[in-house]
Amino acid sequence: MSVLVTGGSGFIGSHTVVELQTAGYDVVVIDNLANSSRESLKRVEEITGKTVTFYQVDIRDREGLNAVFEKEKDIECCIHFAGLKAVGESCRLPWEYYENNIGGTLVLVDVMRKHGVKNIIFSSSATVYGDPDTVPVTEESPVKKCTNPYGTTKAMLETILTDIQTADPEWNVVLLRYFNPIGAHKSGRIGENPNGIPNNLMPYITQVAVGKQPFLRVFGNDYDTPDGTGVRDYIHVVDLAKGHVKALNKIREKNGLSVYNLGTGKGYSVLEIVKNFEEASGVKIPYEIQGRRAGDIAINYADPTRAQIELGWKAELGIREMCEDSWRWQKNNPNGFEQ
Ligand code: NAD
Ligand code: UFG
Repeated sequence: MSVLVTGGSGFIGSHTVVELQTAGYDVVVIDNLANSSRESLKRVEEITGKTVTFYQVDIRDREGLNAVFEKEKDIECCIHFAGLKAVGESCRLPWEYYENNIGGTLVLVDVMRKHGVKNIIFSSSATVYGDPDTVPVTEESPVKKCTNPYGTTKAMLETILTDIQTADPEWNVVLLRYFNPIGAHKSGRIGENPNGIPNNLMPYITQVAVGKQPFLRVFGNDYDTPDGTGVRDYIHVVDLAKGHVKALNKIREKNGLSVYNLGTGKGYSVLEIVKNFEEASGVKIPYEIQGRRAGDIAINYADPTRAQIELGWKAELGIREMCEDSWRWQKNNPNGFEQ
């Protein structure tokens, strides 16, 4: 059996390919390289000692996808990471986000069913919970209106995949709601490689540490949280990747439709992350408190119990490893995958 991984050369995808190959799966990756480098999968091959079959194909390209399914007859399941993911950019380019993320997924799912492949694991996000009324959030917590087009694509795709599974119960769908993935593979060879100035906290901190940014801007210290800064559920990307292998086992049991939170269950504030990073790296992170960032919420963290009970999955790596591994990746690769 092989697994098709869309967006497999990206941050979470490349780490998942490592875990899939380590678990013995054959992997076929398609990616248009819009936000990743060919180099990441070369490094995955270095880590696992196995070959990754790669096609530079866009998920909106029906003919390109057809050709992959014609050639790769063993594909039984798709883990679907491919998508655009920058919140701010999605507010400027909503059409591009809807067309790529929703249009692309519709083409992908259509080609899959034409080839008799009706198993999909989808990268959703904690963003579907909006500003939650209570934390931790369970999978039963209400899905709320998102404040940006990126988040809306996730909520809409959850609905679309749910409707498709309801109409045709031969489909098996797993919706994985990721919290805040950080960290990198222990080897320091693969990691997050944002284009331009990072939007997310950890890559921004590591760029300050390596001297690419002068200081961290802390977006607000007047939230209703213990130290006033935003609280999130940071999860090590390797734990997240392992969650996909567990979800694959579930899908092979013909699960129908399932939804899981992938988080640790513990929230850290921005200032706690700064402190933990400083301790792990030995590097001081200068910061300045600024105003709140539009669209941010005070606090969100997961109740990951369902994934533990039904998938046998639990995050194992703590904040220390997340910081150490993020730092090792950035320090060893100050320019990402560029040589
Ligand atoms: P990433 O940008 O590193 O990976 C996404 C990959 O998809 C990239 O390699 C990109 O080139 C590819 N891609 C984009 N559009 C494509 C298309 N039309 N055809 C083929 N390939 C395409 O992002 P990531 O952090 O690895 O995220 C993976 C998935 O997880 C995304 O769907 C993202 O929305 C979701 N997610 C990420 C986070 C996070 O904080 N990183 C949180 C929740 C959910
Ligand atoms: N923050 C700063 N300074 C920065 C960057 C972030 O103070 O330079 C703060 C934010 O205000 C927030 C926390 O750090 O309190 C985390 O911010 P991130 O941008 O790292 O993450 P978000 O929780 O805002 O969003 C991320 C992804 C979304 C995804 C969401 C839930 O970017 O795509 O997690 O999964 F939807």
